[in-house]
Amino acid sequence: MTHASLLRRITDYSNRANPYPLYEELRKTPVLQDEEGGPFLISSYWDIEGLLHDPRISSDATNLAAAGDDELNGAEQTGLPPSFIRLDPPEHDRLRRIANGSFGPPHRPTRIDSMRPELAQIVTDLIDGIGDAREIDLVDQFAYPFPVTVICRLLGVPREDEPRFRAWVDPIVAGLDPDTRTSADAAKTAQEARMQLGMYLAGLVEERTKEPREDMLSDLVTSHGPDGAMTMMEVLSTAVLLLIAGHETTVNLITNGMLTLLRHPEFLHRLREDPGLAVNIVEELLRYEPPVQLVPQRTCIADIELRGVIIPKGSRIWLVLAAGNRDPERFHDPDRGDIQHLGFGSGIHSCFGAPLARLETQIALTELTRRLENPRLLEDPPPYRQNAVLRGPRHLNIGFDGLR
Ligand code: HEM
Repeated sequence: MTHASLLRRITDYSNRANPYPLYEELRKTPVLQDEEGGPFLISSYWDIEGLLHDPRISSDATNLAAAGDDELNGAEQTGLPPSFIRLDPPEHDRLRRIANGSFGPPHRPTRIDSMRPELAQIVTDLIDGIGDAREIDLVDQFAYPFPVTVICRLLGVPREDEPRFRAWVDPIVAGLDPDTRTSADAAKTAQEARMQLGMYLAGLVEERTKEPREDMLSDLVTSHGPDGAMTMMEVLSTAVLLLIAGHETTVNLITNGMLTLLRHPEFLHRLREDPGLAVNIVEELLRYEPPVQLVPQRTCIADIELRGVIIPKGSRIWLVLAAGNRDPERFHDPDRGDIQHLGFGSGIHSCFGAPLARLETQIALTELTRRLENPRLLEDPPPYRQNAVLRGPRHLNIGFDGLR
């Protein structure tokens, strides 16, 4: 009898709730191509870390398409020029540098830090919105609306337009999910929403060009790197990238976070007693239950030898971050804390939004823990989304005795 390949088993929905035993199996062959013509799966911490810094690995969408990966490319088509997540240096660096000027570099995230009171208010409003209910779906009622509202405020979408903005974002994000991507209707709705969102953002960009304000869109329009400013289309691609890259990921970190805390109530109690623990808890979650399980969008642009295996030029590689995050060669006790995780990637493409994602999740988990009286899981494991790359529950039903 032939066994299904590990690749198939990792993407098979029946393993979504607990893929970690598969990753353990995968690490036994740290460089594995288990389907002819399929991607090379890389699963050890140090190999992943090394490849994320290796200039022989390309993120360029055209190289990926040449390697035969239409599915992943199709999911992210926006009709705009590629954003910097799908570009190699020097174009990647040029655009990221301009965007960083506005966001604040990772070690000095000034804009993000100044958003702290606003983020706390959005969280308070969402929790207050639960009212007298004794049960919530954390995904639909909290984790999903939160990051979109935040990105609207960050970019500078006027408050009165937030509902319209969200009405476009929802089908776009749904269109990225393999659950819905296969339906022709969903694809059409997502495409229309993308066009409308693009037109709406173009209007905002035009306004900001004439009259810059304090928001990030204005900064993107007015900032100059050493090689000049972004074009209008590049500003739009960057805005859409921030929107999409920061969405499902943050939803899943918050939801995986509450799920983990509710499964380990001792941590829930400790967080309630000492909100300062949120910083370490969020880091540990990024290692233990990373929202981005693997980075599949990479192509080798030269032959690479790794652990005696030649990965030929033109091959696709999948960097299985979630397997590296529990690699015992790197983490002496992989079931306990060590915050040098791969949850935000590493190297030149390492997560641009990390300071924002961290702060959003720290505030969300602290406030949920503080305000929900006696919270408990109503279903464990919860139903998961189809997506094997951006992994997280589709619903997380929590019962509680009231709000504090
Ligand atoms: C890149 C994870 C939230 C914006 C990445 C990468 C990972 C990641 C693993 C590397 C991808 C690669 O190497 O190809 C996460 C997780 C998040 C999160 C787990 C939440 C918990 C955000 C947020 C934003 C954001 C909130 C924006 C507001 C980006 C951008 C890139 C990126 C722009 C591309 C960076 C580049 O190519 O230079 N993220 N992300 N992310 N992320 Fe995040």
